[in-house]
Amino acid sequence: MNFHPLPEWVEIMEVCPRDGFQSVKEFIPTEHKVAIIDGLAGTGISSMEVTSFVSPKAIPQMADAADVMAEFVRKWKGKITSIALIPNLRGAEGALASGVDWMNFVISASEDHNQANTRRSVEESLAEMEKVAGMKGSTKLRVSVATAFACPFAGPVAPEKVIRVIDRAFEAGADGVTMADTIGTADPKYVTSTLSVIREKFGDYPFTLHLHDTYGMALANMVAAMGLGFASFDAAAGGLGGCPFAPGAAGNAATEDMVNMAERMGIATGIDVLKVLSVVRTMESAYGLRINSHLAATKLGRESDEGCCS
Ligand code: COA
Ligand code: ZN
Repeated sequence: MNFHPLPEWVEIMEVCPRDGFQSVKEFIPTEHKVAIIDGLAGTGISSMEVTSFVSPKAIPQMADAADVMAEFVRKWKGKITSIALIPNLRGAEGALASGVDWMNFVISASEDHNQANTRRSVEESLAEMEKVAGMKGSTKLRVSVATAFACPFAGPVAPEKVIRVIDRAFEAGADGVTMADTIGTADPKYVTSTLSVIREKFGDYPFTLHLHDTYGMALANMVAAMGLGFASFDAAAGGLGGCPFAPGAAGNAATEDMVNMAERMGIATGIDVLKVLSVVRTMESAYGLRINSHLAATKLGRESDEGCCS
């Protein structure tokens, strides 16, 4: 196995407004979503998953996707790369009409989770993704491979199932691929094992990893992935998140925890952790969201106001 030196820089994509908000049962008023998104946009992040164009019956929280996206495009287009998750053609139509920069088509590597999440077989989702690739024009297409390590219903997922989705994504002309530990059960040894197979097959392709912290292993998994040369990660401010169709899934790796660890290791992120903490405190105190991050629970997290600790 070839270990890379740790990267000097990692890309952290902020997914709280999509993965984080989708896990909150009570509807977050659109203006609150927009206020949090604006706060996060000022933290130094370069890309954000702003919403998802999904059935409001499946995820009522995302019913205001078009409005949220319109506000984002109006304020941040050209400054911050926007991403919107889609599960089908209908979602692609909504996303394309919104002016989003990247569509993020989600397909699970495991049949059981793909059925639970999108009511389609993996093959049906792949075929639909191919149609979306054919109509994307200048909008970029990312394919997110959910349950890339383990499935809540079927257990461990063989790397071949992940490779099947990635192969089809590349053949269709996808511009990026994310691999997700949807339920956060992967450990560093497991992550290393699967990602070594992926590296072997796809070389140094800049995949993104999407890690959940259900068992407190997300940062350890990040380090394991960096050791194999992976340098792009999703994270959610406040550690919010979780797929409602993946029993047992808990929050994403918290942005502030990832940034804190990376910067302490001398790995640049471009993100101001104090600004993230300031937004996270507002999410909790003004909007009642439940925060789940290590850093937010420290003295720094509880007391810092933007710039107070320089
Ligand atoms: N956006 C908005 N509405 C959509 C939609 C989309 N992308 N796709 C379907 N719909 C609507 C349809 O118009 C239909 O509405 P109606 O009942 O008022 O006529 C309804 O949703 C059902 O449509 P159908 O095509 O039968 O979809 P389905 O019931 O098979 O559900 C999905 C499939 C993919 C739409 C749904 O499961 C979904 O949105 N899943 C997203 C899951 C998700 O976001 N998970 C978390 C992220 S990993
Ligand atoms: Zn997720």
